[in-house]
Amino acid sequence: MKNKILFIVTIVVVFLLGLLASSIINRKSEAKYKYVPQVEISENEPRNEEWGKNYPREYQSFLQNSDTSFASFQGGSVMRDVLEEDPRLVVLFAGYGFSKDYNQGRGHFYAIDDIRNTLRTGGPKGPGDGPMPATCWTCKSPDVPRLMNEKGIAEFYDGKWADIGAEIVNPIGCADCHDPNSMKLRITRPALVEAFDAMGKDINKATHQEMRSLVCAQCHVEYYFDKKKPGIEGTPYLTFPWKNGMSVEAMETYYDEMEFSDWTHQISKAPMLKAQHPGYETYLTGVHADRGVSCADCHMPYKSEGGQKFTDHHLQSPLNNVANSCQVCHRQEADKLRTNVYERQIKARENRLKLEDLLVKSHIEAGKAWELGATEEQMKSILIDIRHAQWRWDYAAASHGASFHSPVETARVLGGGLNVAQEARVKLARLLATLGFNKEVPMPDIASKEKAQDFIGLDMEKLIKEKEEFKTNLLPQWLKEAKIREDKMESKKVSMTNK
Ligand code: HEC
Ligand code: HEC
Ligand code: HEC
Ligand code: HEC
Repeated sequence: MKNKILFIVTIVVVFLLGLLASSIINRKSEAKYKYVPQVEISENEPRNEEWGKNYPREYQSFLQNSDTSFASFQGGSVMRDVLEEDPRLVVLFAGYGFSKDYNQGRGHFYAIDDIRNTLRTGGPKGPGDGPMPATCWTCKSPDVPRLMNEKGIAEFYDGKWADIGAEIVNPIGCADCHDPNSMKLRITRPALVEAFDAMGKDINKATHQEMRSLVCAQCHVEYYFDKKKPGIEGTPYLTFPWKNGMSVEAMETYYDEMEFSDWTHQISKAPMLKAQHPGYETYLTGVHADRGVSCADCHMPYKSEGGQKFTDHHLQSPLNNVANSCQVCHRQEADKLRTNVYERQIKARENRLKLEDLLVKSHIEAGKAWELGATEEQMKSILIDIRHAQWRWDYAAASHGASFHSPVETARVLGGGLNVAQEARVKLARLLATLGFNKEVPMPDIASKEKAQDFIGLDMEKLIKEKEEFKTNLLPQWLKEAKIREDKMESKKVSMTNK
């Protein structure tokens, strides 16, 4: 009797297992046959809508990147005027483009619009004009790999931003991350491949899971423009400073050794570094990276529609999608998880703001010391301290998401910055006393963005007018030229006999 029951149970279990297996196989073949190619996608196809014809689900979710309604405590897809929110930054960036205009972007869909609109790219009147090099387009569009293939890499970086305005029109998209034939993830930006080479690593050996972060590391990283590349001196060649490592200290040493600076500070004359957005570097130091969680796991989680599981291409703050993002791994309530994120951000911000205050003071006190006749020799070590302290502040502030991606490292970097900034101010107090100034240096009124910009002497009206002229004169020409070019690109239907 016992054996008979066991026998029947076994048969039932085997039968059920069989059903399960066949349903899995069916699902798999369903997934495979889901993509009936409609068009042939050529090697350099930059148009997202062309790719979208073959992959409608991914494309539909991708189109949601145009949504700008979500705001979290410090992120989201709404546009934020960072200078308005925190006018101290105008002083920190005096003499540099970010003092004119610093908006926290709205996301991939707006990458092209936002770079056209920012006052940092100025109001070029035609090719050869304007403050920025062509290199500034590199992280904005799948037209970039297309142009690099057509012209060459160094040739792409050469010249002004305005020289190729008519060429770069499609916002960040499919060709940036995918191979058109296999749809495998691929690296299209040479700077990342070259940075791996410089570290003695081969990016082709990256695992599939690593690739789910490395596609993002093409753009969400620290970089600079190397103008001293042998053979092409003067070309602003996009380079990641990773040779000694990715920590705040390793990259600082890299820059110090080559005496690189992004600009000279207008008030303190310190040789400054602008941290771009070391998002990938800081993420690597966090617990999620340590456990093998990739950028895509949180920012591009799986989504289901009609029994079909696919990757959500709406790249956004995961706080707008906690269920698909965090709750795949964490059992806590959404509110709890959101609170966890905000707590880390609020705590990091506390020290970030303290450091900003010290930096503003040290720039202005250094300005006072120059005014009173300080010598280069007397100022040297002070200016290096200011450089290092602000680099730490920026490394933590500009690495979007770092206070959550890696709260302990972010706190460490800010703590280091506080210490270096204090040292600069102790030296400044001593120097000012030597120069006969024994009082507190008066601070300007920088309570609003306008007041701060006025203090550093920016002619905002002129900058805004130049931008308006660019938008009414040159930009429509770019768009017209681009349309003529793209109209000539074919859309090749897959012929039925070919299949
Ligand atoms: C464990 C989940 C997780 C991983 C892994 C992760 N992120 Fe994030 N990321 C977040 C959260 C949560 C935020 C905070 C969002 C907010 O403040 O609204 C965030 C913020 C960001 C932001 C700022 C977004 C905004 O709206 O302000 C960017 C950009 C970003 N992450 C990129 C990346 C990149 C690139 C990687 C990989 C190198 C990565 N993230 C890995 C969860 C993650
Ligand atoms: C080709 C360059 C490029 C690649 C590749 C790229 N990004 Fe971005 N990303 C950008 C730029 C530029 C912005 C800011 C655009 C703007 O708002 O104007 C941005 C913005 C974002 C934001 C903020 C969006 C928001 O609305 O809050 C998130 C999150 C983000 N990226 C995550 C990722 C992740 C995750 C990956 C990899 C799967 C990735 N990005 C790959 C260039 C890139
Ligand atoms: C910022 C990088 C990035 C961009 C831009 C991007 N993808 Fe993806 N895509 C990914 C990642 C990451 C995956 C997950 C791949 C994996 O794990 O193998 C993926 C997966 C896919 C897949 C495989 C099936 C699936 O859903 O998982 C398809 C098809 C796809 N993407 C189509 C597109 C199309 C079409 C576009 C443009 C409209 C696009 N992708 C833009 C990063 C990107
Ligand atoms: C793919 C799985 C995975 C995803 C997705 C994921 N986590 Fe985690 N998370 C982990 C693992 C693993 C740890 C390490 C702790 C552990 O092993 O229990 C961790 C740790 C944490 C911690 C504690 C570490 C710290 O930073 O102090 C928090 C908070 C956290 N996750 C929040 C989130 C939030 C919020 C999201 C969504 C934006 C998220 N996680 C998405 C796997 C994940």
